[in-house]
Amino acid sequence: MPNTITIEPVTRIEGHAKVTIRLDDAGKVSEARMHVNEFRGFERFCEGRLFSEMPLITQRICGICPVSHHLASSKACDAIVGLELPRPARLLRELMHMGQFIQSHALHLFHLASPDLLLGFDADPAVRNVVGVIQANPDLALKGVAMRRFGQEVIRQIGGKRIHPYDGASPGGINHGLTPAGRDTLRREVDGVVAGMQVAVGIINAYASEHAEQMQAFANFPSGYLGLVRENGELELYDGRLRLLGPDLEPWEPDFDPARYLEFIAEKTEDWSYLKFPYYKKLGYPQGVYRVGPLARLNLCAGISTPLANDEWQRFRALANGGAVEGSLFYHLARAIEGLYAAERARALLDDKDVCAQETLAVGPVRNQVGVGVVEAPRGTLIHNYWVDERGRLEKVNLIVSTGHNNWAMNRAVNEVAKAYVDGQQLTEGMLNRVEAAIRCYDPCLSCSTHAIGQMPLEVELRGADGALLHHARRS
Ligand code: MG
Ligand code: NI
Repeated sequence: MPNTITIEPVTRIEGHAKVTIRLDDAGKVSEARMHVNEFRGFERFCEGRLFSEMPLITQRICGICPVSHHLASSKACDAIVGLELPRPARLLRELMHMGQFIQSHALHLFHLASPDLLLGFDADPAVRNVVGVIQANPDLALKGVAMRRFGQEVIRQIGGKRIHPYDGASPGGINHGLTPAGRDTLRREVDGVVAGMQVAVGIINAYASEHAEQMQAFANFPSGYLGLVRENGELELYDGRLRLLGPDLEPWEPDFDPARYLEFIAEKTEDWSYLKFPYYKKLGYPQGVYRVGPLARLNLCAGISTPLANDEWQRFRALANGGAVEGSLFYHLARAIEGLYAAERARALLDDKDVCAQETLAVGPVRNQVGVGVVEAPRGTLIHNYWVDERGRLEKVNLIVSTGHNNWAMNRAVNEVAKAYVDGQQLTEGMLNRVEAAIRCYDPCLSCSTHAIGQMPLEVELRGADGALLHHARRS
């Protein structure tokens, strides 16, 4: 038996972390953990800046989800100026948010998740990547590219740039309206995006019925669920109230104003990871752990306001007879259904008579010295909370990012999959790919969760009972 085993990096996720799989004397997995090792102290670094700079500063936390930070930050700033947003601004912010969802979910579905689903977990890693998907199904790969381009074009029209908008949301609204010409361009393309998302849902539904056993067995465990909903309980991504349910989908709390999150959510620290573990305060850790993101949102909502996505949501909920769908691979299906919702919702917003109105900004001085802004980012609930002095200078900043809420769940998923599939005596690449795939279900953004800039690899180490490194394989 060799002395050392490691895999590096874990591929097709955004960011940098390390998985350690510990074996016992018999070569069976005893424990697996996901460590997040980078730390940049973004919250401290912002102290002393003016709050109104935050929508532009915080989007630099991440090259993957800048719009989510931009919008959560703008909402926290709205609360500080204490003004009602003009209706056109509310529409444009949500439209920009839908653009972000479409591009992020399309990227994950077509480029990061599809190699496992279309080519198989055990396919040769030399072809189990986006190039392999393009060769196997060029039409599908092109659809993914077109959908991403549409999402980025929405962001550019509203925010001035495809990735980091510099001229988008401000405290109290949006800097400028959408032009009729811009709206018309987007309107011409949006039907194709709706159709492309339907194709994505169809592919994952087909995969799920062909691999029913694996879908049920793979990283399947109970948890609580957190996410925004509308007043009537429907899926909501930009605004609304927070819903927190237990594993049986019974409320742990009545739906609450996101500004009250500190009453209900606390964060546990572990010495082996910089990323904290949020949990429901009243139950404590780990009894009060919950999941966020697509699977959580489709488990906790009471329906979807757009017709095509709502049909798919009903089929999704029937998978568990109306109870919670718990298998981690179902994140992919939930993500596709949300992508369909985002495309349909973008179409409805583009058809709104006020979407090109130019009254988009309400301005005023600091009225409140605390502001909370919460959105559902593609990966889950994103919280920005600022405390300012009377002149608007930041005294304290608290961010809880989507990937942080899922920290416990990703660790649990890694543990389940490592114990079920990894055999220390006869290690195969496919076994270790399944461990990575457990993490990929959650589409973690490690740039966000470490508040570190740039994309860095995740590595996996397999260690023996004595702690010795047993395997090291490089893929990049
Ligand atoms: Mg934080
Ligand atoms: Ni991010």
